[in-house]
Amino acid sequence: MKTNQTHHINLTPPKGTLWLTADHHFGHGGSIGQSQRPFRDVAEMDRMLIEAWNSVVRPGDTVIHAGDFEWGHTPERTAAIFGSLRGKKHLVIGNHDRPRVTSLPWESVQERLTVHAGGRRIVCDHYPMRAWPGSFRGVLHVHGHTHGSLPGTSQSCDVGVDVWGYAPARVEDVIARMEATTDLPEERLRAADREAEDDVAE
Ligand SMILES: [Fe+2]
Repeated sequence: MKTNQTHHINLTPPKGTLWLTADHHFGHGGSIGQSQRPFRDVAEMDRMLIEAWNSVVRPGDTVIHAGDFEWGHTPERTAAIFGSLRGKKHLVIGNHDRPRVTSLPWESVQERLTVHAGGRRIVCDHYPMRAWPGSFRGVLHVHGHTHGSLPGTSQSCDVGVDVWGYAPARVEDVIARMEATTDLPEERLRAADREAEDDVAE
């Protein structure tokens, strides 16, 4: 186990596809109603989420999980689910992730992970941020937690399974979605407004 319990790591993923995901809430019956998931019960939800994951992720791929992996199972069941999921898995800790989740054999475990992929730098956190390291210079941000309730911007995106068909999202697809979003991050919008006001004043 290569567990890294520091606050933050930088990651350059090895060859293979990089996937971003969050908010599986394996075992959490409440998430079916709260997030209007189309599953009859926890058993069906867990089964479908595992199938969706393994239908896209290949064994050598890298997966960054932006938190809230599980809620409500025993440590044994949690470990069995984890073991059935393909890929080299990194965890960005979510508010639901107890020791039975953080102690699983992830490649790394931390509160923030910055990944270099698709020609971009991407800051991964569980919670969505209004500004993040390098955001003003175009660094991207992905998060979980909001289960699709918060609109994305040209530089930030919810990568939770409720937003991406219950499966991990390919990093190139996440970047493309941000590039297709015209709404700027708040701090850049305000800076643009200030520049426009300065132009008028000159
Ligand atoms: Fe969540």
